[in-house]
Amino acid sequence: MALRSAIIGCGGYLPPTIITNDELAARFNLDTSDEWIRERSGIRQRHLAGPEDNCSTLAAEAARRALESAGVTADEVDVLVLATATPDSAFPATAVRVQALLGMTRGFGFDVSAACTGFVYALSLADAMIRSGQARCALVIGSEVYSRILDWTDRASCVLFGDGAGAVVLRAEEGERGILSTHLHSDGRHGDILHVEGGAGSTGGTGLLRMAGREVFKHAVTKLASAVDEALEANGLSRDDVQLLVPHQANIRIIDAMGRKLGLPKDRVVVTVDRHANTSAASIPLALDEAWREGRIRPGDLVLLEAIGGGLTWGAALARF
Ligand code: UT7
Repeated sequence: MALRSAIIGCGGYLPPTIITNDELAARFNLDTSDEWIRERSGIRQRHLAGPEDNCSTLAAEAARRALESAGVTADEVDVLVLATATPDSAFPATAVRVQALLGMTRGFGFDVSAACTGFVYALSLADAMIRSGQARCALVIGSEVYSRILDWTDRASCVLFGDGAGAVVLRAEEGERGILSTHLHSDGRHGDILHVEGGAGSTGGTGLLRMAGREVFKHAVTKLASAVDEALEANGLSRDDVQLLVPHQANIRIIDAMGRKLGLPKDRVVVTVDRHANTSAASIPLALDEAWREGRIRPGDLVLLEAIGGGLTWGAALARF
């Protein structure tokens, strides 16, 4: 029987401060409106990190919750893979900071940089390490504090993102359940349509997010559709086999388009973008955690994950629960 990475626990953490669209517009004196933001993106509010929060603290809290839900202790974890575009610092890896916060003194951790597709990349790496026998238990985290890299004078981007972290625990199992396959892509020719201008190795500073939203939107619809087809074909499955779609949460219009493509009714597509905004690498594990806690994922369900982000990077994963 095949060795698989079973998803045995989920956790999420959102910083407690919630800012509505109107509050954001007033706070940063933006020429925007709640109506524009909701109509174009589906976002109503976002959580923002406080001064004491950073990527590692949000990640550690999500990880603690995921470990608890899995019934696993931190010292059982062999590898911690953390996806982020907003690490605490250039090095050490934020994953290692999280190890320390969790009290992990064995195993190893590292960061993955693939922007909003980061969680799918991290999941893919952890799954490969489990299937090759390099690890038996993995903690996969997406954690972001985009509020630190947003240009609060750019209304076209700053209204779209939020802070948060999500995590899953994977364990080696022989059986039917687990990650069936992951499918990763990147195309650096489009690197500048969604990028951080400046940073540790160029300007030495943090850098600010720049996005040509309409361009990214066009790529999103076609590239996500092809990644989803690729994942289903690779497993000899059809869209009718999918019980739940857990998409990256960038824009409700993109999420709805993917739901329509798969022929899924709205109750089988997980949506958090209205409350969380786009939390980049954290959005899929946060959405998965919400669906899990609400009892929307039952044993045997086939769950499809997909994401696109800066790079361009994009990908999909199929998991049986
Ligand atoms: O997570 C990584 C992947 N990211 C994404 O998938 C994001 C993809 N892109 C999007 O979600 C959408 O393109 C946006 C939500 C960013 C923008 O929606 P859009 O329908 O593509 O609007 P647009 O960029 O074409 O802008 C339409 C108009 C422009 O004015 P003009 O040129 O038509 O006069 C913008 O200047 O809306 C204006 N605008 C705004 N107006 C009020 C841009 N931002 C705002 C704003 N409030 N915050």
